Amino acid sequence: MPDEVSPHPSRRVVVGGGLAVGAAVAAGSYLSATSAEGAPAAEAMRQVSLTVNGGRLKLAVDPRASLLDTLRDEVGVTGPKKGCNQGACGACTVLLDGQRVLSCLTFAVLHDGQEVTTVEGIGDGDRLHPVQQAFMDHDAFQCGFCTSGQIMSAVALLESEEPGITEDRIPEAMSGNLCRCAAYCNIRDAITSASATMAKGR
Ligand code: FES
Ligand code: FES
Repeated sequence: MPDEVSPHPSRRVVVGGGLAVGAAVAAGSYLSATSAEGAPAAEAMRQVSLTVNGGRLKLAVDPRASLLDTLRDEVGVTGPKKGCNQGACGACTVLLDGQRVLSCLTFAVLHDGQEVTTVEGIGDGDRLHPVQQAFMDHDAFQCGFCTSGQIMSAVALLESEEPGITEDRIPEAMSGNLCRCAAYCNIRDAITSASATMAKGR
């Protein structure tokens, strides 16, 4: 768990070095600081400051750790899901400084000082974000495993990428988020509805 926690705590964006997750850290200096079991020695850990859902954290991270694993295992935020762990499903989508990213494809260590928002951080107390409310109203989930990533993509889409998106653009804009139980029609309806709700509030 983090050593400092303040109160609350496009698919398409692959952040610097992201594709290298799982392949990169082969540097000799790092490996020499790795224990026989593969766990990093203390000197190999890196200090990173992240703001997660409004709470500032200081973490000592394994430089090989993805942002997804860091959020789930170190911060204890479990909204972002590990579906494919290779950039294909969108279940791990979070906002990084307001932009949607696949958290399985980037290293936490690369994001010192940045702000991460997960599905846990978009509501306001008991009040759901309009996208969350619309997903409930339109029954836009079945198994629910893919839902948090879908919601975060939709939030990015409507808040910053394409406010007022037309209905026919939604499938393409959401194409990086898979739903294996095929709630797609309901997801499209939810995003259309949330878009209208959010437009009224502008
Ligand atoms: S878990 Fe990241 S895209 Fe599937
Ligand atoms: S809601 Fe999980 S696969 Fe569709």
